[in-house]
Amino acid sequence: MLKNKNILLSAVLLPAAMAFAQQNGGMWIPTELNEKEMKDLGMKISAKQIFDPTKPSIKDAVVQFDGGCTAEIISPKGLILTNHHCGYDNIQSHSTVENDLLTNGFWAKNPSEELPNPGVTVDFISDIKEVTAQVLAGTNGLDQKAAQEIINKNIEEVKASLKPESWQRILIKPVYYGNKYYAYIIETYKDIRLVGAPPQSIGKFGSDTDNWVWPRHTGDFSMFRIYADKNNRPAEYSKDNIPYKPKYFLPISIKDKQENDFTFVYGFPGRTTEYLPSIAIEKIMNDTDPARIAVREIALKTLDEKMRTDAETRIKYASKYASVANYWKKWMGEVEGLKKSNALENKRLYEQSLAAKSPELKNSLDELKRLYTEQAPYALNNAYYTELLRNAETLNLANRFLNYSASLEQGKMDDKVLAKFKNELSAFYKDYSGELDAKVTAKLLALYANKVPAQYLPEGFKQNFSDANKNLETIENWSINSIISGRNSLNGATVYTNIDNVFANQNQLVSIIKKDPLISLMASLKEAYLKNADSKYTMLQSQIDAIQKKYMAQLMQADQNRKFFPDANSTMRVTYGKVKGSNPRDGVFYKFQTHLAGVMEKYLPGDYEFDVPKKLIDLYNKKDFGIYKDKTGDVPVAFTATNHTTGGNSGSPALDAYGNLIGLNFDRQWEGTMSDINYDQKYSRNIMVDTKYILFVIDKFADSKWLLNEMKIVK
Ligand code: ARG
Ligand code: ASP
Repeated sequence: MLKNKNILLSAVLLPAAMAFAQQNGGMWIPTELNEKEMKDLGMKISAKQIFDPTKPSIKDAVVQFDGGCTAEIISPKGLILTNHHCGYDNIQSHSTVENDLLTNGFWAKNPSEELPNPGVTVDFISDIKEVTAQVLAGTNGLDQKAAQEIINKNIEEVKASLKPESWQRILIKPVYYGNKYYAYIIETYKDIRLVGAPPQSIGKFGSDTDNWVWPRHTGDFSMFRIYADKNNRPAEYSKDNIPYKPKYFLPISIKDKQENDFTFVYGFPGRTTEYLPSIAIEKIMNDTDPARIAVREIALKTLDEKMRTDAETRIKYASKYASVANYWKKWMGEVEGLKKSNALENKRLYEQSLAAKSPELKNSLDELKRLYTEQAPYALNNAYYTELLRNAETLNLANRFLNYSASLEQGKMDDKVLAKFKNELSAFYKDYSGELDAKVTAKLLALYANKVPAQYLPEGFKQNFSDANKNLETIENWSINSIISGRNSLNGATVYTNIDNVFANQNQLVSIIKKDPLISLMASLKEAYLKNADSKYTMLQSQIDAIQKKYMAQLMQADQNRKFFPDANSTMRVTYGKVKGSNPRDGVFYKFQTHLAGVMEKYLPGDYEFDVPKKLIDLYNKKDFGIYKDKTGDVPVAFTATNHTTGGNSGSPALDAYGNLIGLNFDRQWEGTMSDINYDQKYSRNIMVDTKYILFVIDKFADSKWLLNEMKIVK
């Protein structure tokens, strides 16, 4: 028994001592790269060429796209490439049933046809500085609250001392749970225009069935252009703006790829939690992921039925549906992957081995175990509640109106905030179907009533709302008299016809909100949740955070062999590895690459996920592949590598040993989706669209040579 355990233990600890740090995954801060290891793996450029604050370097071509994805500059005229699913919202918002850019694709024929997207931004990182000493100065020995006050003050001082230019801002973020701090100097461009997007039968080929799955055949790309004022600085949209002249842009390689080629991915990964204690992983696997999956499952089924039969609904809900479906599926893969990679057992053994060396670390783990166990019922309620609010749109709307009236009563509602709120509402109503959502909300209320213990619910809620059919009747009756449904009018207008009129007399509106039955239902759910669950949940979470910070420092102290990287936090990172297939199950080998022939294998005429555009079929049949085929004679479509990526890395450039663009990151493979919690080299692969496919589509499918002429192509 014991002997067995030791074998397991060494198997767990072994990867830490292995030659390559990245073998355990890793998303590195670009100013602190493992240059030697990257070169040993095949990199031919220097770390300075990847990030240099003073001279043009690759980082000048990598931007955060609209706060959530990554994009890269591929021409001297500010042309950027990101995923189709990252531009999806914008492509959708330019679409109508008559002119459906999602279905037909869009290709500007010249700059004057490029479409503006108000509100969309891209962020450049002009420099990164470690500022831990300044931020933590004077906090030694203080309790959490007192320390945080000093930290907040220090952060403001550091920001001022960095003296940003008028078009720059400074963002300071903690890593390692507050054991280190970094400052980012950011320049935000605001005039971003849509240049091109393939039809979704290419850009979203395989849709939700193929999402998170390899082998993959999606041409998940779209193109935008950054515009600047005449001084090349950020500016609001204006027809007088001119294409941005970048400090650096990426050459695009169409060379054939080989398995084991060095590759790195440069982007803005959102969030990972690689250093959670085993008890936290246990709760995610057994409690919160399954709860979230259950809520979304119901919402998706209900939406899908309607979207399949009604074109208007399909367009309205396309983007929302995709985003709900995305994490629904991700969490299923995550739970499976955690089990399969033996994450819990490995972590427990790892913790035991470290606890044996460090009594302080053992204390922290014991504390975390106690806190997570105490928090579990509240965390479960939190999962159900947050998913209810996200997916039951009627409740989501009701909550927005509640927050609005609270702000107004607290005197926090000025013209600017109000204008923003009205804009948000208009955008919401544009893509909202009250009738369809009533069905979703009715079912989700029933799930909530049945799953959440009575002590966290409003009085009588369990009895009154546990039946979805009855809920639907209730909602239908209540929405007749509801302002949020758009069926009750105010000053002769509804939220659909004239939002300004509805808000013309705000005191009158608030008194109506107070009587609104749907809003009242939301108010009672919220009150019960905040009082009975959320207060305990957040109190325990702040205790967990404090111990987790301590534990993180103890872990780094106790495991000196391990090369630590900070969890993703939406800041700029580099991850690197090799182009590689995988062996995810006994007897199954995944090749690292797919080809156009595979698109044709999956082709289902007329199917909403697997249809293929006629022109692409013709090109395939004629083998009209131009310079984009590889040595097999076919066009490569997608490929996998061992890069450690997460949400936010979508649209990130995948680069070769010389820093040329070879692909566009867009997903991970099913067997490795637990990599946010437990990266495993055996299973975890990132998925990229091949640059050959991207250029093939732009050239042969879209006939957009004018765009190719801007690019620098490496043959
Ligand atoms: N799974 C990828 C990522 O997390 C792509 C998602 C877009 N596609 C979709 N069917 N929802 O974003
Ligand atoms: N598809 C993700 C994104 O949109 C990337 C991932 O989670 O692997 O950022």
